[in-house]
Amino acid sequence: MAGHSSRISGFYRGSVAERLDALVEHAGVDGAVRGYFATGGGLAIDAADRMSENVIAVHGLPLGVALNFTINGHDHVVPMAVEEASVVAAASNAARMVREGGGFHGTASAAVMTAQVQFDGVPDAGSAEARVAAVRDEVFACGNASIPRMVERGFGCRDLDVRVLDAAEGIVVVHVYVDVGDAMGANTVDTVAEAVAPVLQHALGGFVGLRILSNLPTRRRVHVHCDVPDAALGGAEIADGIARASRFASLDPYRACTHNKGFMNGIDAAAVALGQDWRSIEAGAHAWAASKGTYGPISTWTRTATGLRGEVDMPLAVGTVGGSTTAHAGVRAAFALLRVSDARELAVVLAAVGLASNLAALRALAGEGIQRGHMRLHHRKHEHAEPVSCPK
Ligand code: MEV
Repeated sequence: MAGHSSRISGFYRGSVAERLDALVEHAGVDGAVRGYFATGGGLAIDAADRMSENVIAVHGLPLGVALNFTINGHDHVVPMAVEEASVVAAASNAARMVREGGGFHGTASAAVMTAQVQFDGVPDAGSAEARVAAVRDEVFACGNASIPRMVERGFGCRDLDVRVLDAAEGIVVVHVYVDVGDAMGANTVDTVAEAVAPVLQHALGGFVGLRILSNLPTRRRVHVHCDVPDAALGGAEIADGIARASRFASLDPYRACTHNKGFMNGIDAAAVALGQDWRSIEAGAHAWAASKGTYGPISTWTRTATGLRGEVDMPLAVGTVGGSTTAHAGVRAAFALLRVSDARELAVVLAAVGLASNLAALRALAGEGIQRGHMRLHHRKHEHAEPVSCPK
């Protein structure tokens, strides 16, 4: 954001209190948010009791901040909640390299989620599409009537399509696409799926099966790219190594899975800090990775004339309203820190953090190997964690 910087030198060397002061000075964190973090953050037990069931305590995780992110010309300090050492430092280091190439650039589509309504035993499945098309307006009217507050804000049903999964058995699924604005949207979409099912059944016959969102929201997409100069990466050889590592992931699902784990390290940690449904994000990301027929990498790194281009295009359902964005004081504080204006900007930031985590891992793997950096960070915390070396 204008006037705020995510580039804060020496941040990691300070005490927790000094880091909070630095965020006040450089990142526009106000006194109330600083005060909240200074108490250790977390969740009050009564709020926890309202959020879940059979609550007996509150579970803790370290909350760190990734620095150096510049995304679409704005600096962002990114809150990350994660138990794994090195994830936050790695994202910060990679973001610093990307910054040297002008930062991350990205866009997100409108927040169009997918409602699925399943039918079995539909007669004449071959004409299902035409029969649903004939009641399209009625479906939208009925869907929109079930989510009046969303519609008041300018969102609601946008489109539908019909997929015949098994013509002989009449297994047909209707997708209704719903723009959910700044929400993650699961409840909204589930409401629409249930509301439109009778209208669809009238048109299709058969019997109604499931009525639920799909966690593979292919119409809710984020695209982020970055160009990193060779010099920022430590030279052309390392850039070559990262591009080869990316190619490896594109050829081998065993490697693609680990590549994607490194990418998701960033998204998940930020998603947890920001109260997002990270299980839904994970499910969508891996289904997407497998959607071309074989499981592949979510993100790619390719050589350019002067460095590396990193790119990701994926479905991502995240929200800035609803859920724990209001119920959880820590999530509200994390949003105050991050400074995003809407769900689309949040999606772009999360995808950028994924790319940064992915870059950091590939750079380490293509260079000195992951263990040295990892162990250095583990050492800070566990004096006994000696790296093992084989005799020559
Ligand atoms: C560890 O959390 C993540 C990595 O395995 C990712 C990768 O191999 O790309 C280092």
